[in-house]
Amino acid sequence: MTRPIVITGTDTGIGKTVFAAGLAGLLDGHYWKPVQAGVEPETDSATVARLSGLPKERLLEEAYRLRLPASPHLAAREEGLVIEAEHLALPEVDGALIVEGAGGVLVPLSEALLMVDLFASWGAPAIVCARTGLGSINHSLLTARALRASGVRVLGVVFIGDPHAENEHIVPKLAGVPSLGRLPWLDPLDRDTLGYAMRTHIDLAPLKAFL
Ligand SMILES: Nc1ncnc2c1ncn2[C@@H]1O[C@H](COP(=O)(O)OP(=O)(O)O)[C@@H](O)[C@H]1O
Ligand SMILES: [Mg+2]
Repeated sequence: MTRPIVITGTDTGIGKTVFAAGLAGLLDGHYWKPVQAGVEPETDSATVARLSGLPKERLLEEAYRLRLPASPHLAAREEGLVIEAEHLALPEVDGALIVEGAGGVLVPLSEALLMVDLFASWGAPAIVCARTGLGSINHSLLTARALRASGVRVLGVVFIGDPHAENEHIVPKLAGVPSLGRLPWLDPLDRDTLGYAMRTHIDLAPLKAFL
């Protein structure tokens, strides 16, 4: 049975792919990036392959792989395409399917379809990735609200970056969701350091009922 978990976040470039790689590895699951906009220096799937150590067959092919590193609606338009929900059906796998969104929840896939609409259409729950630093409270709470407003269950929030005790306390409290912990900034970042950080810093208990 497919157990999809959407990895979304407050922004692009905040560590969704790194966390998704860690989680897919930890759960021994599959990874899928339905819409990839931008392929240089590597796709998110390639990053996950490198950082998770999962075999190639666990990395599912993107439904849309677009060259332009831009909002998906624009990257698609550049290639004469319109992204359509019917081409984005959730793949069926046995076990956990880690699905990484593009950018944040209100990113447009087309002029008629937002990232969050897709999550809602799948009925899949989400984890919100958030930075620890200044600006994170507002962005995290907006993200959690937008997901809920569209009927997407929020399994929890995960922080990425240097410790910030107050933000790590207040965001889960005001969002009304559990914290999965904080993935520290890793240097070097590789399969071993990520695997170790996931095992020692991330609490999977909030996911247990779902998995
Ligand atoms: N925990 C981390 N430790 C070190 N580098 C990280 C970490 N998380 C993300 N990065 C780096 O930050 C950049 C953006 O991360 P990425 O996971 O691609 O973000 P997103 O998927 O949200 O766009 C990448 O260069 C990535 O290697
Ligand atoms: Mg990414």
